[in-house]
Amino acid sequence: MTGPSEVQHLLKIIAQAANDALNEYARHGEEVPSIYETKTHPLDIAETAFTLKKAIRTLEGACNQLCSTLAPPLHTVINNAHDYYWSCLRVAAKQGLADILYDHQGGLHIEVLSQRLGINQDKLATIMRTLASRHCFREVAKDVYANNRLSLALRSQTPGAAFLDLQTCEGQQAAFYFQRYLDDPTYGPSTDLKHTAFTYSISGFQGTFYDWIKQNVMTRGMSGMNQVMGTLSILEVFPWEKYSTICDVGGGNGSFTWPLIQKYPALKVTMFDLPETIAAAEKVATQKINVNHVEFSSGNFFEKSPPHNLDIYYLRNIIHNWPDKSAVSILESVGKAMGNNSRLLIPYSLDKVGTNSSEMEELSYHIVQAPLPMLPDFGYGNMRLHNQDLTMLFMYNSKERTVVELMSLSQDAGLELSNVWDLGETAVLEFTKSNNRSG
Ligand SMILES: C[S@@+](CC[C@H](N)C(=O)[O-])C[C@H]1O[C@@H](n2cnc3c(N)ncnc32)[C@H](O)[C@@H]1O
Repeated sequence: MTGPSEVQHLLKIIAQAANDALNEYARHGEEVPSIYETKTHPLDIAETAFTLKKAIRTLEGACNQLCSTLAPPLHTVINNAHDYYWSCLRVAAKQGLADILYDHQGGLHIEVLSQRLGINQDKLATIMRTLASRHCFREVAKDVYANNRLSLALRSQTPGAAFLDLQTCEGQQAAFYFQRYLDDPTYGPSTDLKHTAFTYSISGFQGTFYDWIKQNVMTRGMSGMNQVMGTLSILEVFPWEKYSTICDVGGGNGSFTWPLIQKYPALKVTMFDLPETIAAAEKVATQKINVNHVEFSSGNFFEKSPPHNLDIYYLRNIIHNWPDKSAVSILESVGKAMGNNSRLLIPYSLDKVGTNSSEMEELSYHIVQAPLPMLPDFGYGNMRLHNQDLTMLFMYNSKERTVVELMSLSQDAGLELSNVWDLGETAVLEFTKSNNRSG
């Protein structure tokens, strides 16, 4: 394809994806609100909005490719290197700016905001201008800022707040040290959990990222990430009603178990996790669900298998933060628990299949590819997955794996891929015991 023809194709893709998104909003009862409004839409908080997510994946990927094609290369590269937006988002979130403005629909003057927050007025003005330039807060009159659709997502009780906190603090800190870390003769080549870019960034620290963060910070961060990525779409897509017993392996704070039981009260769900996590989950369970539907089982999956012979074993956000050897051990541990008819479900970053299509062609399962001239994995449309891949590297010396890599690890653990459930931004891979090793 020539450059001009790529641009024409991208424009068509963008128009189609934008119309798909508009239709999806309308299908859910209301038109998409203007970005200048503070109006919410049911799809804003729907964790199962996977049709919208698919349209946005295409739209963001194609828009980014269009701009990168037409702008001078140095313009694009420097724009990416020169991005401080996250830093302003952090200030706004930590200072509760959206919470303050929530009570002032007409907005507040920068002088008043500056006094409320105890931040120098000129500095705050720079921050607000940067945020408003990307449609987060709105300058309703000269130096008067109010909330809009995007800034409302920064309110302290939103599910993304803890995730934003983790990413803009520990995540960015590790990112800053990453290049120096790679050059370090001890840390750079190591795959040890104590030798990650993050641990390198903390002078004198000897532990792992797990040691650094408190469990509750982690689980709150996870909940936010899961909501943003729409992993709960599996509740709509997978035929849960066909099964009776489920094990949520490493179920954490129950952010999958509780909605599962609410939607499918006939299921019996066992949460399996480390003793301290199970104790905490048991405490909150009574407020969330009918506890008769859930069993709690504690153990370390490296030492003990989850309860045996259940219909489904569900491993969300479990494998990706472990290096290959440990990941295989976890899969083996679950494999030992599985009966011949059990299924293992692993939510997964569907399009992390590389930016070249050759690997996809090896797969017998249909994996969604972006239309040409886009990259097969949607490029920037899957930005968060690529960032997530780096997060795993920075924090755990691990990675998000391609389908082929995950299939290979599963094979080592005696499991084989039997289905792929597409959820838009993510997917769920379904495994059964390999025929030749079952029993
Ligand atoms: C990243 S969190 C994922 C939580 C949950 N599945 C979710 O998606 O929100 C990882 C979970 O694995 C659990 N975990 C870590 N090591 C474990 C082990 N050795 N045995 C059992 N569970 C473990 C942690 O306690 C935590 O709840």
